Amino acid sequence: MAKSPLFRCAACGAESSKWAGRCEDCGAWNTIEEAEPLSEGPGRRAAVSRGKGLALTDLAAQEAAPERRLSGVGELDRVLGGGLVPASALLLGGDPGIGKSTLLLQAAARFARQGAGVIYVTGEESAGQVQMRADRLGLRDSPVRLAAATNLRDILTTLEAEAPDLAVIDSIQTMWLDSVEAAPGSVSQVRAAAHELVGFAKRRGIAVVLVGHVTKEGALAGPRVVEHMVDTVLYFEGERGHQFRLLRAHKNRFGPADEIGVFEMTGRGLVEVKNPSALFLSERGAAVAGSSVFAGIEGSRPILCEFQALVASSATAQPRRSVLGWDGGRLAMILAVLDSRCGVSFAGLDVYLNVAGGLRISDPAADLAVAAALLSAREDKPLPEGAVLFGELALSGSLRPVSQTENRLKEAGKLGFSEAILPKARKMRGGESGMRLRPMADLPAFASDLFG
Ligand code: TYD
Ligand code: MG
Repeated sequence: MAKSPLFRCAACGAESSKWAGRCEDCGAWNTIEEAEPLSEGPGRRAAVSRGKGLALTDLAAQEAAPERRLSGVGELDRVLGGGLVPASALLLGGDPGIGKSTLLLQAAARFARQGAGVIYVTGEESAGQVQMRADRLGLRDSPVRLAAATNLRDILTTLEAEAPDLAVIDSIQTMWLDSVEAAPGSVSQVRAAAHELVGFAKRRGIAVVLVGHVTKEGALAGPRVVEHMVDTVLYFEGERGHQFRLLRAHKNRFGPADEIGVFEMTGRGLVEVKNPSALFLSERGAAVAGSSVFAGIEGSRPILCEFQALVASSATAQPRRSVLGWDGGRLAMILAVLDSRCGVSFAGLDVYLNVAGGLRISDPAADLAVAAALLSAREDKPLPEGAVLFGELALSGSLRPVSQTENRLKEAGKLGFSEAILPKARKMRGGESGMRLRPMADLPAFASDLFG
């Protein structure tokens, strides 16, 4: 029987038996190409011959919890959920130049200084370049072992012989296997290389960290499929022109997902930020119209940040809606609620919304802080000094209570805020925060109370 051809999406790695103009999995156009079957991939043989029986186990049989080892970079360990897990594969994604190599070199150095065996394989830079960076970071004396290589067969042979505790592969897009006939960085190479490295990590009980570059649209360049293969996916993000960097757990088999770590990029590498709220609010001056302070939660961590809104009369028929650090669709929804429930129209007005400092907010509780910033900008009247806001907005205009109210209040109190504007809930307690609470049932009540 002739083998039917296999097609694969270059964007997400999804496979299909027929060609299509648009990938059904990720929706990308013109990304489906005929794929070479992987030489050793599963399910490629025509018929399956008889194998050996599996050793079955009970659900109750308990495997010991994986023994973790702290890397020595506190913020990284916290995002990992308490350190590195042996026999695990981790993907660190992020834009080029964001600081992935710097972070991993610092973590590798600290880990090695505790006596762990660490091998750092760079496929992007020369060994000399990495040594120069280590010099600049003051890490030259740390016993990390270094190789500049891209041939995975050589790399695996070396790792097999050296058996380190941690191997860093920087980056997965530069690695290639001679058994796969495709260019490095292509979907099939990245898939195959990741498959080999993940298998190696499990087999030999070694923690393997893969670096992956992310495209402008936020997708991991090459196949998203690497995300499914590894145990943990971390993203390193930040805005150009801003010093701080966020490390975010996107997926974590051994710890909480969505946890974040905060770093600052300095002349001497990445420095951990112990109090991110103070950093994000540091540029804030006296209260101005259009500015609101949001008491948010990112991961399990309370973070205060500032929303800035600007409303200006529009010169065009289609007014601008520009958002940085927040969801544009959500902004449109809030403008609609303000219009139809509070009678505050933004027609004919350009609206700009920023999160100060370049932070990206995903907490739904930001709705009230955004609505407040917009109202304040529209009415040209500052919000009360010393107030933080949080609450989720429904289309009806009512405010919904959100999670972790006490943690939000505590963080705000710690940073010297005295008042919280928040959704009305059945049990209202300020906790030990000492904050004055101003509960609001809905957005119209809020608008008339503060701007009426
Ligand atoms: P890098 O770790 O090479 O980024 P990636 O591996 O994600 O591509 O970081 C490069 C940037 O970081 C570069 O623009 C210079 C800056 N940087 C500092 O500001 N301070 C430092 O100590 C180091 C090592 C880099
Ligand atoms: Mg790099």
